[in-house]
Amino acid sequence: MKDILTIAMPKGRIFEEAADMLRKAGYQLPPEFDESRKLILDVPNEKIRFILAKPMDVVTYVEHGVADVGIAGKDVMLEEERDVYEVLDLKISECYLAVAGLPDTKINDVAPKIATKYPKVASSYFREQGEQVEIIKLNGSIELAPLIGLAERIVDIVSTGRTLKENGLVELEQICHITSRLIVNPVSYRMKDEPIDELVERLSKVIGG
Ligand code: PRP
Repeated sequence: MKDILTIAMPKGRIFEEAADMLRKAGYQLPPEFDESRKLILDVPNEKIRFILAKPMDVVTYVEHGVADVGIAGKDVMLEEERDVYEVLDLKISECYLAVAGLPDTKINDVAPKIATKYPKVASSYFREQGEQVEIIKLNGSIELAPLIGLAERIVDIVSTGRTLKENGLVELEQICHITSRLIVNPVSYRMKDEPIDELVERLSKVIGG
């Protein structure tokens, strides 16, 4: 595997944009790449192996060195604080982290409940604001929590704003802007510097237009 570059790709909404970007960078990815349910996809002509993982797990594969590089949202990077290099802002999958809730929610509690997939980010945000809160970790469909009384507010990703709107929630505060990043395992960065530098260079050109 020494001369094969393993790239961890996030399944789901980032995947399409990331694959599109790799194609624009000149990597020949087969058409079935986008439709496949396979979790390991080899592209021998490019000497690349792709592994498809949940967005939160991409960084784990890269940190453990089973993937040399990966594509991960800044939200995941902030939450996971792992030992990987973040080498490039790909400027795709733009969105932001925000605090949201039902309009006119009265907060009587000393420590209101905040539901989120991002407990670390949410804790440090409210600490900085000097607010005492109780964090409730969920794994998805975060917008459900205020609707059924699990939490007063949520901290979650807002992209188009549709999920908030369709569930009658309003955005209360913006926390930070998010884009996808190219991340690299520190050992791979030394051992496979050539293909990694080339990948960074080719993707940089696409970003630069
Ligand atoms: C994300 C996020 C919001 C939604 C925001 O969820 O957690 O729920 O997208 O997008 P929008 O502003 O365009 O509506 P995702 O679909 O990734 O699934 P999840 O609920 O399982 O986290």
